[in-house]
Amino acid sequence: MQTATELDVLRTTVAAFREAGESLALVPTMGALHEGHLTLVRGARVRADRVAVSIFVNPTQFGPNEDLDAYPRQMEEDARLLEAEGVDLLWAPGVAQMYPEGFATTISVAGVSEGFCGASRPGHFDGVATVVCKLFNQVRPDVALFGEKDWQQLAVIRRMARDLDLTAPQADAIVGVPTVREADGLAMSSRNRYLSPEQRKAAAALPRAMREATERIEAGGDVGATLQALEQALAEAGFSSVDYADIADAASLARLDRLGEAPARLLVAARIGSTRLIDNMAIDKA
Ligand code: PAF
Repeated sequence: MQTATELDVLRTTVAAFREAGESLALVPTMGALHEGHLTLVRGARVRADRVAVSIFVNPTQFGPNEDLDAYPRQMEEDARLLEAEGVDLLWAPGVAQMYPEGFATTISVAGVSEGFCGASRPGHFDGVATVVCKLFNQVRPDVALFGEKDWQQLAVIRRMARDLDLTAPQADAIVGVPTVREADGLAMSSRNRYLSPEQRKAAAALPRAMREATERIEAGGDVGATLQALEQALAEAGFSSVDYADIADAASLARLDRLGEAPARLLVAARIGSTRLIDNMAIDKA
């Protein structure tokens, strides 16, 4: 595996792949890799000749009171995991490389960025859209893979790629990979490591309550009453608060109070202790 920390090294390596006629997939990450990320890497491997993974803890997507400094960093361990997966290129820029003196541009995707996590994390999706656009321009992959666990992030990135006519990758080559879950259903996340053993046990109530809610709604249950029952179940399991629990149009993220023709998604963010967990599930029509 070739590791690049400078743009010219990245570009030379990518150019060599291209000169050999090889296709390239990118998996953007912030490191602290777990099985969810490795599933993205395996998905990339079957979609392209070469796989690049970026690791960059992006400061602009963290709010002033968020966990940027505490965010887990384990570059050596991550590199070992990627090497074992047969990754060809690790792109690991520093903050000065990504945001040099005088950097002044922000990409803001209206609408789809605004509700849900965008409401409680102002500026978060501007930071995500800006850094992902930069990563796309730096690596210029044919295809890029993101976890469906961050459903709103995926919707924002797809919207940006469409709106800006991106070509590397094109919007329809932005692939969402289904969420990887622990045995008890909890979605894998780098933040799960902040949970105490008791909180970790209680956290399994989140996917359980969400599964029950999607089944009720799919069976024709009232959306409002079902979401209330979901919030109640989370409170009883020990969650301290629910930031949101809603169903929405899967692409535009417009809130829905009943199922329509277009695909819908249940999205939840809830806090257990000081850890905020997010998850989402498809709602299939009966
Ligand atoms: O999902 C993540 O890890 C990050 O938000 C991403 C897409 C790598 C942008 O920093």
